Amino acid sequence: MLQRIGVIGGGTMGRGIAACFALHGFSVNLAEPSAAQRATIRSEVADGFRLLVDENFVDADTAVTAFDRIALFEALAPAVQDRDFIVEAAPEKMELKQALLAEIDGLAPADAIFATNTSSLPLAPMVAALPEARQVRTLVTHWYNPPLLMPLVEISAFGNMPSDLLEEVVTLHRQIGKRVAKVAKDVPGLIANRIQQAIAREVFSLIEQGVADAVDIDTALKFGPAFRYATTGQLEVSDFGGLDIWLTVGDNLLAVMDASKQASALLRRKVAEGKLGVKSGEGFYQYDPTSTSSVRRAFLGRLITQLKASRTYP
Ligand SMILES: NC(=O)c1ccc[n+]([C@@H]2O[C@H](COP(=O)([O-])OP(=O)(O)OC[C@H]3O[C@@H](n4cnc5c(N)ncnc54)[C@H](O)[C@@H]3O)[C@@H](O)[C@H]2O)c1
Repeated sequence: MLQRIGVIGGGTMGRGIAACFALHGFSVNLAEPSAAQRATIRSEVADGFRLLVDENFVDADTAVTAFDRIALFEALAPAVQDRDFIVEAAPEKMELKQALLAEIDGLAPADAIFATNTSSLPLAPMVAALPEARQVRTLVTHWYNPPLLMPLVEISAFGNMPSDLLEEVVTLHRQIGKRVAKVAKDVPGLIANRIQQAIAREVFSLIEQGVADAVDIDTALKFGPAFRYATTGQLEVSDFGGLDIWLTVGDNLLAVMDASKQASALLRRKVAEGKLGVKSGEGFYQYDPTSTSSVRRAFLGRLITQLKASRTYP
């Protein structure tokens, strides 16, 4: 049974992943080499737990106990040496992840299972230099941000992992309340990010062509397709609509829609101009620098509303 969890990298994702496991009773060692990052982890995890208590997801005592289950380390060795399941959430660079996994391999128990939270890198080259016995114990567990609130974890082992081990990892994530999507092939982006990029490509193209402004495009998405998507997947939607209708409309529209093979030129221009979104005060919308934290809180509030509703979703 997987009981002792190691999380490597305590940035945006690692601290949230550690908090989720701790909240559900698991002992968590979190390794973070940067002193600046380590200094912010405890207060941010405490803020996350406070939100869950305020919203009645957990009681205050559970949050206090969970907080005490997270041990923070600067060095890798003490964080991984007695762990059953170790997930790395270090920066998205292939060479860094390859070196990190090799180092952990030399420190962790031989039977520990390794996971990478990579968003876009293929697993096969990442584990190629590991001993065969470790390769078959390494997989992708891809969380969504923010980890405390987003239910999805995509799990992909590209067919090399014995099915009983894979099921153990799936069970572990279900135990902490996550909705698991298993991915049968080692494809970059897995399922959810690929779908999201396909939608984003058309959205950026529509705004670049001047078809509608940002508010109208987001309204069309939120109160049209995405309104259904929270409860009903694309394949279910297609079945409800009728595959003959989807065939006709697909033939009509796909021929005239954006099919570019790289990120939007509009996005490239905005990034070059320093228009990065909420963090810079302007993206597709404008943000008053004095209200950034309330904008972020409102976003979390919407996720909380959705999370509450999603308890009844199939
Ligand atoms: N941010 C997201 O929305 C998101 C969502 C899903 C998956 N991911 C993936 O999760 C991983 C982490 O992303 P993030 O957004 O948390 O990044 P981040 O930059 O916020 O955090 C990475 C952390 O790793 C630490 N680090 C650097 N080198 C390290 C090393 N050698 N060993 C251990 N820790 C090290 C850094 O100090 C930093 O705190 C990436 O692979 C990313 O693609 C990110």
